[in-house]
Amino acid sequence: MDNAINNKIFGPVMIGGIKFSSNVLMAPLAGYTCFPFRLMVKELGAGSAYTEMVSADALKYNDRATHNLLYTDDREKLKCVQLLGAVPETFEKAAKSGLLEKFDVIDINMGCPVPNVIKSGEGCALMDDIPRASKIIEACKRSGKVVSIKCRVGMNKKRIVIEEFARMCEVSGADMITVHGRTRDMMYDGEPLFDLIKLAKDSVNIPVFANGGIDSKEKAYEMMRQTGADGIMLARYGFENPILFSELTGREITDTKAGLLLKQLDIANECFDELYVLTYVKKLASYFMKKMPGTKQYKLELYKCGSVSELRKLIEEIFRVNG
Ligand SMILES: Cc1cc2nc3c(=O)[nH]c(=O)nc-3n(C[C@H](O)[C@H](O)[C@H](O)COP(=O)(O)O)c2cc1C
Repeated sequence: MDNAINNKIFGPVMIGGIKFSSNVLMAPLAGYTCFPFRLMVKELGAGSAYTEMVSADALKYNDRATHNLLYTDDREKLKCVQLLGAVPETFEKAAKSGLLEKFDVIDINMGCPVPNVIKSGEGCALMDDIPRASKIIEACKRSGKVVSIKCRVGMNKKRIVIEEFARMCEVSGADMITVHGRTRDMMYDGEPLFDLIKLAKDSVNIPVFANGGIDSKEKAYEMMRQTGADGIMLARYGFENPILFSELTGREITDTKAGLLLKQLDIANECFDELYVLTYVKKLASYFMKKMPGTKQYKLELYKCGSVSELRKLIEEIFRVNG
């Protein structure tokens, strides 16, 4: 399919009065969607990219971990943060806090399926408590920021609540909903339930984005066709292969893979401590090398690198040899 058609399906979109440069978004991914990564995917065509989930309650500690999660600066044009929590008042405090002042959009995590999160009444547990979920959205909206929701389709196949839930989001003031088309008990496996994402789309007038299992251009078109969604959100495969953003949006790539990686190393090095830089860039580099033949030895060497300068030399060598 050529870019003319791409651009028709994947183009700019307005959400809560803000123009997103494309309707292909990067999901929050804990441990992955740090500031340098968000900058890279936006350069490659992503309309926005979210911080990983940040505990609304833990903002009060204002520690190094929170600082790293919330790091952003003027290079990031549209700033989107995701909050996780259970208590409306805690969300209101967080949304109005100085730590989030720079962020334009607050996304509320109503989809995390992890047992500890569910036990605390956070993440996907909110799909089982619609009145409380509504109060949380209203609390965040009082900050005056654009508020989006990321949810699933229900807790399990017997408790599919997406229609009622999507309506509640709209009535409570949400500006956009992203539906991960799996139930909580599916965790991250199995085919997303396209018809239930479509049900959400057909139930509300605010934009609905579709998420789950999009790992190629073909899957992206299929998701759009089957759900009628206003856009898509890439997650695991957006990290594994960020070039997909450029393939979908037609945004030209000006860097080689090595160039992209070295830029990531430089930006991360400006913003974070060495341990953080090494952990992040090694993860990214190993995904970039995934489909390169003969890189097994290099992968071992990658994990042994103990400094940023060693890592830089190794990346230069790997990609000089492997293109
Ligand atoms: C390692 C990992 C971390 C994740 N972290 C978050 C998160 O912080 N917030 C969130 O809303 N979803 C998170 N998710 C869920 C993804 O955003 C996405 O909804 C899910 O992976 C389905 O999309 P995919 O099949 O395209 O990966 C995470 C998923 C994985 C695998």
